[in-house]
Amino acid sequence: MGQTYLQLRLDLAAALSGFLDPSEAHAESIRWFEEGLGKSRSWVAAHGDEPVPAELRRQVSAWVRRRRAGEPWAYLLGWSLFRGRRFQVTPDTLIPRPETELLVEAALDVGTRLGVDRCVDVGTGSGIIAITLALETDWAVAASELSPGALAVAQANAGALGAEVAFQGGSLLEPVPDPVGLVVANLPYVDPADGPTLQRELSFEPSSALFAPDRGLALSTELLRQAKARQASACLLEIGAGQGGELCRRALGFGWHKALVHQDLENHDRVLIALG
Ligand SMILES: C[S@@+](CC[C@H](N)C(=O)[O-])C[C@H]1O[C@@H](n2cnc3c(N)ncnc32)[C@H](O)[C@@H]1O
Repeated sequence: MGQTYLQLRLDLAAALSGFLDPSEAHAESIRWFEEGLGKSRSWVAAHGDEPVPAELRRQVSAWVRRRRAGEPWAYLLGWSLFRGRRFQVTPDTLIPRPETELLVEAALDVGTRLGVDRCVDVGTGSGIIAITLALETDWAVAASELSPGALAVAQANAGALGAEVAFQGGSLLEPVPDPVGLVVANLPYVDPADGPTLQRELSFEPSSALFAPDRGLALSTELLRQAKARQASACLLEIGAGQGGELCRRALGFGWHKALVHQDLENHDRVLIALG
């Protein structure tokens, strides 16, 4: 890898284009400089001919080797941004997805309209939903998670970001005391049958954070049932493309008064809202 910062960036883009498509490789090389090395484009323009310390060149070469094997950039970096905040991520946690911001926005909207004073984020992973809601509302926020590794990361993130969240280890709503208030969740919803066709990068994320039985519907269905039985104010779920119709039918079957689906920018079912 190059001796100067400018050369390093060109070499990096060339190395990445060996296994990413060219536009992706260019964007990632800029991202690596900004997020991984803390060097903005304007910094490189001004200081591009300065020599790169050998240790840093070795670090970039090591990242390239891991990235070539398919490891996601967020795991190499150790953090990812969600709604402008930095969250630690590890192989125990799902990497935050931009579409989960739609779920958070829907939760803020529904919770405000219903005047709730508490909520619970079920399957909190790195804690992005619970921590964002704790920092952006005055609600009492609880969170549950089955994976002890993910729970530890969520607790560390809450501490680092100064969010007050009552974390509970266990399944779905079982460890959460009454009243549960607004129930929000991005649970695993990928159909295990789709596993072989998924991007290689996904194989680095915990399968327990991705897949659910019954074509991806099992955990969402069980949470809709538990939330209704526990008299939740509403239940909001991130869901997969094409899952809205079936989950709405199941929600109504559990006694929810109303169930509606919001689609994302690509017109895929993305957020289910069960009310009443
Ligand atoms: C799709 S990930 C989402 C993580 C995080 N909420 C986010 O949006 O990035 C689903 C999470 O649910 C957890 N999980 C799976 N089954 C669970 C269960 N029965 N009860 C609680 N958490 C569960 C997984 O360990 C994983 O952290």
